[in-house]
Amino acid sequence: MSERIDPALPKAELHLHLEGAAPPAFIRGLAKEKSIDIAGIFDEHGGYAYRDFWHFLEVYEAACTTLQTPEDFRRLTLAVLEDRAADGVVYAETFVSPDFCGGGDLVAWREYLQAITEAADEAERTMGITLKGIVTPIRHFGPEKSRPIAQCAAETKGHFITGFGIAGDEKAFHPKDFTWAFDCAREAGLRLTAHAGEWGGAQSVRDALDHLKVERIGHGVQSIDDLALVDRLAEDGITLEVCPGSNVVLGVYPDFASHPIARLREREVKVTISTDDPPFFHTTLVKEYEELARVFGWTEEDFRAMNADAMRAAFCDAATRDRIL
Ligand code: HPA
Ligand code: ZN
Repeated sequence: MSERIDPALPKAELHLHLEGAAPPAFIRGLAKEKSIDIAGIFDEHGGYAYRDFWHFLEVYEAACTTLQTPEDFRRLTLAVLEDRAADGVVYAETFVSPDFCGGGDLVAWREYLQAITEAADEAERTMGITLKGIVTPIRHFGPEKSRPIAQCAAETKGHFITGFGIAGDEKAFHPKDFTWAFDCAREAGLRLTAHAGEWGGAQSVRDALDHLKVERIGHGVQSIDDLALVDRLAEDGITLEVCPGSNVVLGVYPDFASHPIARLREREVKVTISTDDPPFFHTTLVKEYEELARVFGWTEEDFRAMNADAMRAAFCDAATRDRIL
């Protein structure tokens, strides 16, 4: 029998896409308000419907067409934080893409950012959840588009925007193509992460470390196929933002039992647990913890330790970290 994990256990979540956390009913509501026909992205139960990762990205972008104004993003942020707070999350970081908020125009981005920040401040007051933002270009939109996005990030680094990352199709382009954007973000003092080793194999993790000089990796699970890399991650204290349910639903691994998170942890890699795009993957952080406890026999003590590692790797100031740890 696995230990019951208290659903109210305070949790830190480092890998969460703001638009990808939109409840389907919320997106349907916006679509109706604006008369946008996106009925095709939902299944008969009202959930998001997609065939594979690449189709998931298309459905994701179709859902994003309903998010048009700063007010839409304010409401989205509140809806997402309500769900996270109900999941016991006390600290979260969210990927937010200026690509979907003004297309890289700095003036527009500031307006979206103000709306998102207002919602985050309100949620902190009313729900006790702290949110930080990681600006994230979309890899398959190409290196050219990543430059104004990096400039948006650099110009708005502050209390809320603390990090820079990259998401999207990991097989599109090479990390080398994004060094300009990452150098720009690093010079502005932003903390860095990159999606790698979800689809692109261990080499993609090596490339993200070598070319983008990131301190965390989004997913990174395919590092398990290269034990020298696993040792490097452990020695250099690179934290992985692991999203087991996402990986299983998208077919990176067939089930939790074959997921490498426990093997990575045994080899002393810092692993943390997140949901990625929870409604797309029919998951919550409570469900992830329950499944990991059942399959690997992890206890509340294990989850507390992983949450402490998450806070040590969090892109926030020391005062925020110490308050939450
Ligand atoms: N991987 C890459 N890009 C993404 C994801 C993901 O899991 N979710 C949203 N954008
Ligand atoms: Zn992700």
